Amino acid sequence: MTQSAKVDEPRRLIDRFGRVHNNLRISVTDRCNIRCFYCMPADNVEFMPRTELLSFEEIERVVRIGTTVGIDRVRLTGGEPLVRRDLHLLIEKLAAIPGIFDIGLTTNAVLLGEQAQKLKDAGLQRLNISLDALDPEVFKRVTRRDSYDKVIEGIQAARAAGFSPIKLNAVAVKGMTEDQIIPFAQLARETDTEVRFIEFMPLDADSKWQKEKVLLAADIVARIEAEFGKLQPVPSSNPNAPANDFVFADGVGRIGLIASVSQPFCSTCNRFRITADGKLRNCLFSHEESDIRDLLRHDGTDEDIAAAMLMCIAAKEAGHQINSADFVQPDRPMYSIGG
Ligand code: 5AD
Ligand code: SF4
Repeated sequence: MTQSAKVDEPRRLIDRFGRVHNNLRISVTDRCNIRCFYCMPADNVEFMPRTELLSFEEIERVVRIGTTVGIDRVRLTGGEPLVRRDLHLLIEKLAAIPGIFDIGLTTNAVLLGEQAQKLKDAGLQRLNISLDALDPEVFKRVTRRDSYDKVIEGIQAARAAGFSPIKLNAVAVKGMTEDQIIPFAQLARETDTEVRFIEFMPLDADSKWQKEKVLLAADIVARIEAEFGKLQPVPSSNPNAPANDFVFADGVGRIGLIASVSQPFCSTCNRFRITADGKLRNCLFSHEESDIRDLLRHDGTDEDIAAAMLMCIAAKEAGHQINSADFVQPDRPMYSIGG
């Protein structure tokens, strides 16, 4: 065999713009137990057949191989990840992989009441809870389901299990959740909860997104400041964090703004995704994906899979085009990509 100088060099997932990717978001299912309008259709959703989903063993293998090209943190998403049976067993497997030092989960918390402690014991470190309204009626309008009480129970169970801080993600939509901003800000002041407002992105299954419906981060800040006084920006300890964090003038309470539309953070993006059916995607908004499940199920070697990851990142664009006139929404909505 010819001696290659490159063989022993550690390879990294570095794209054409110098962004180093160490963060893999793994969707474990496209199923969900609620129907947020910004993500799913109201009814008759066609879910992937179970045989198409990567098994826990397949996911574990992908992550293990990922560590050889620089992945050191993962986040489980969906759909709703907690509808995947025995998710804590996957977390246990991932936590045991040398080189993985951070495991997060994004959930709607409906099933968290029964699972929070098990998840914590399995090695889950970070928990982001998606909750767009503190008013049960508004919650129902957004999610088209009646699960508000379960969510609150889930959040309490997460606190009791020792997750701290808890981050709440609230998608902000004009004409729908404006009146929730102040109650959320109040919650951030009163509890160990960081509320992060996310601008509504064009990833809804119904393709009804319009720029006019986006409640802009600047407007959210203005509303909060009108009520509580000037917010103080907090310098981020993590240059790849998508949220701009603020504390209130008196130092009590913390909120974040994820301005994906008005101030894209693509230039510091360090993440890529694997869908529940095993497709690698280098961006939420990408129109291309590469099939890693085929490699996993048809004798692909570890090297083939590492190469697929490197190629996926090499093809990454500079950023999304939401604000350009010829933006085209991706074929897959959020629940099918993984949040
Ligand atoms: N725009 C903005 N955020 C969204 N999410 C899901 N769909 C959208 C969208 N169209 C959020 C979820 C979750 C996170 C993973 O992404 O509420 O908190
Ligand atoms: Fe990263 Fe794509 Fe999101 Fe930009 S839009 S931050 S490139 S995933």
